[in-house]
Amino acid sequence: MRRKLLLGNWKMNKLNSEAKEFALASVPFAKLAKENNIDIGVAPTYLSLATVKEFASKDMIVAAQNVHFKESGAYTGEVSVPMLKELNIDWVLIGHSERRTYDNETNEKCHAKIEALLNNNMVPVYCVGETLAEFEAGRTKEVVGGQVREGLAGFAPEQVKDLVVAYEPVWSIGTGKNASSQIAQDICSFIREELRAMFGNVADEIRILYGGSVKPVNVKEYLSCPDVDGALVGGASLKIDSFEELLKNIL
Ligand code: PGA
Repeated sequence: MRRKLLLGNWKMNKLNSEAKEFALASVPFAKLAKENNIDIGVAPTYLSLATVKEFASKDMIVAAQNVHFKESGAYTGEVSVPMLKELNIDWVLIGHSERRTYDNETNEKCHAKIEALLNNNMVPVYCVGETLAEFEAGRTKEVVGGQVREGLAGFAPEQVKDLVVAYEPVWSIGTGKNASSQIAQDICSFIREELRAMFGNVADEIRILYGGSVKPVNVKEYLSCPDVDGALVGGASLKIDSFEELLKNIL
């Protein structure tokens, strides 16, 4: 049985002081989520990771938005796995479309980062999704299938059972044009079959999220789809009231 997962992606938002305020206010919701067997978490900026870890409930997942695949060295501006581990940060978003678009994050780079995380018993949230042009050309499965196969090639089934995959059609991110729940279900089910071809029945344990303009009004519909195990939420995860509503709507 896969536990539901609600994950907020704050992107480049919130001052450290605002992150602390959110973390403190989120404590009762982490309790509520736990009582209902739901995992919740947020991905703050690097600068706020330690703050959120300190002031949020221990039951709140705190994820980084990126990591470098090397442990240390001459990589100006980067942060490594041991640095996250020192703060007890075990979850990391990998291959978010904004990083693929603005920071040249390729499937190959994603693979190296995922490998570094899995080798350290950490949880990658591997983001995949097609652009509008690819969607309109009917290439969604080709693109998403390639991202899954290349990003996750060569790992052993027992390594990937805690992995999370997030299907986020690029055309739906921050645009208010959310994909229909039918599209979300079709592609999440397709991803599960790709995972099954690669890893066998472990595919039934891997959580697959939908992301892209998820709001309190539509979150329940996505989570009612059999292959959608949760949501990765950007804009609607920033305000504590909206985060609370997202959670309450999936209880
Ligand atoms: P959005 O972002 O909910 O603001 O569309 C989702 C994401 O980028 O993870």
